[in-house]
Amino acid sequence: MKVVTTIAEMRKIRASLKPPLGFVPTMGYLHQGHLSLVKKARAENPSLVVSIFVNPTQFGPREDFKQYPHDTEHDLALLEKADIVFMPTADEIYPPAFSSWVGVGKVSERLEGACRPGHFRGVATVVAELFNIVQPTRAYFGQKDAQQAVVIKKIVADLNMNLEVVVLPTVREPDGLAMSSRNSYLNHKQRQAAVVLYQALCLAQKLWSQGEKDAQIIRQQMTNLIQKEPLAKIDYASVADPQTLEELDRVEAGALVSLAVKIGKVRLIDNVVLE
Ligand code: PAF
Repeated sequence: MKVVTTIAEMRKIRASLKPPLGFVPTMGYLHQGHLSLVKKARAENPSLVVSIFVNPTQFGPREDFKQYPHDTEHDLALLEKADIVFMPTADEIYPPAFSSWVGVGKVSERLEGACRPGHFRGVATVVAELFNIVQPTRAYFGQKDAQQAVVIKKIVADLNMNLEVVVLPTVREPDGLAMSSRNSYLNHKQRQAAVVLYQALCLAQKLWSQGEKDAQIIRQQMTNLIQKEPLAKIDYASVADPQTLEELDRVEAGALVSLAVKIGKVRLIDNVVLE
């Protein structure tokens, strides 16, 4: 494994890597969710690049960019099986004259986009840039960030990018909490309370499998359950079309049920697809 920090070096080494090339973009502080992407990318491609870059432009002014957890030594130890770990500086990705942005339209304005204005502009821009630098054959993302996956698939389709986007299942703790670098912000009590997201998603799945087709009833039941947890404050409880992310009246198979909930000051997201 080799650590590369400049775009020039990344491009040079890229030319010598055997195709197909798998790519896992990350912001570091790796957990089992990231590692499941790395494992799959490693198994499906003779070459593997993982990037670690905490992208400043996807954080709002009052968000946790400055506190975002990092442990580069630990991350690099976990990435021994990658060919390249690409760790650009912010100046490499956003040089002083940088002024071009990728806007994605409607799918980026709902849910997370509504709560975090500008977030997906930052994600879409950095991902487009990373794709141009790394030129992967396949790029791997987690279903945990369901809207991010929809946004990235949209830019790849709309801008005719020549790669496949692979989305892999959410990896969960034994009690169901979705793995996330931000779980490290939770204190003991908050960590116990955080399981309410998974419980609400399980409730949605149960109602649906019992024949409930009214999306508003499912949203309301999830809301009622979460409101019983004193540490939890809901940003949204959504039952939406999995492609457009528009809220549904009647629930269909494949609907995306998603939640954003603050546990204390820690904002967590999670989702399930109704089977
Ligand atoms: O999911 C993440 O870690 C980030 O949003 C990504 C895709 C690496 C872009 O910064």
